[in-house]
Amino acid sequence: MRPIGVLCAIPQEFAFLADNLTATEITETAGMVFHAGRLDGHQVVLARAGMGKVNAAIAATLLLERFGCRLLLFSGIAGGLDPALSIGDVVIADHVVQHDAGYYGADEGFVVYQAGHLPFFSPHEELGHSADGDLITRVRSALDEISLAPLSAAGGERPPRLLYGRILTGDQFINSETLRERLFRELGGAAVEMEGAAMAQAAAAFGVPWLVVRTLSDLAGRDSHFDFRQFVDEVALSSALIVRRLLPVL
Ligand code: ADE
Repeated sequence: MRPIGVLCAIPQEFAFLADNLTATEITETAGMVFHAGRLDGHQVVLARAGMGKVNAAIAATLLLERFGCRLLLFSGIAGGLDPALSIGDVVIADHVVQHDAGYYGADEGFVVYQAGHLPFFSPHEELGHSADGDLITRVRSALDEISLAPLSAAGGERPPRLLYGRILTGDQFINSETLRERLFRELGGAAVEMEGAAMAQAAAAFGVPWLVVRTLSDLAGRDSHFDFRQFVDEVALSSALIVRRLLPVL
């Protein structure tokens, strides 16, 4: 069977998955590292792409064209946008949107629009990309009974939740309560990160299914840069553990 392509942006997201890969073949292209091997018996190519949308699109394209992957998956961390969520909660994307793609109108200010399109030149009906419905059904049943361990770094309060929702992507680390509130209110984002929707756009262009799994390292508000540093290792591991549990249904 053709491999599953797993993208990560930063070393913490990559480390645990790479450590558990066997029969690994390592290659470097475009400044990115690719580990091809077996993870729990499943054929996987793991990419350490670096941060941001362009890196995600390059890595996605290489995973599809060079390694022949049949599905792309992002495993990593995100900032929470929905005020009901806490650090350590897990969001699996049922839809992704590039929140920094669009146009500035004279009266409206910044208007988010489908990446690669303009309303007066190449209008487009949809905003963002939806995950494959059958894939999400399989993911839901695989994770139905999962119970997530409370974060040790957070003092172990309530156990983390897992939910399905909209993830927003942009080439910006969000460290602003004003922007967090706007992204939640105007775009209905549960979480924000810097790669998922770009990977999804590349996967959609090749007609390949995709999945984005993100554990919250911070809440995208004024303390997000502190929280990110404190929780990055633990939440990156949480996402990777979920991905390993999903491999049999992908
Ligand atoms: N990834 C993790 N936290 C993030 C944030 N606050 N903004 C963008 N990407 C993130």
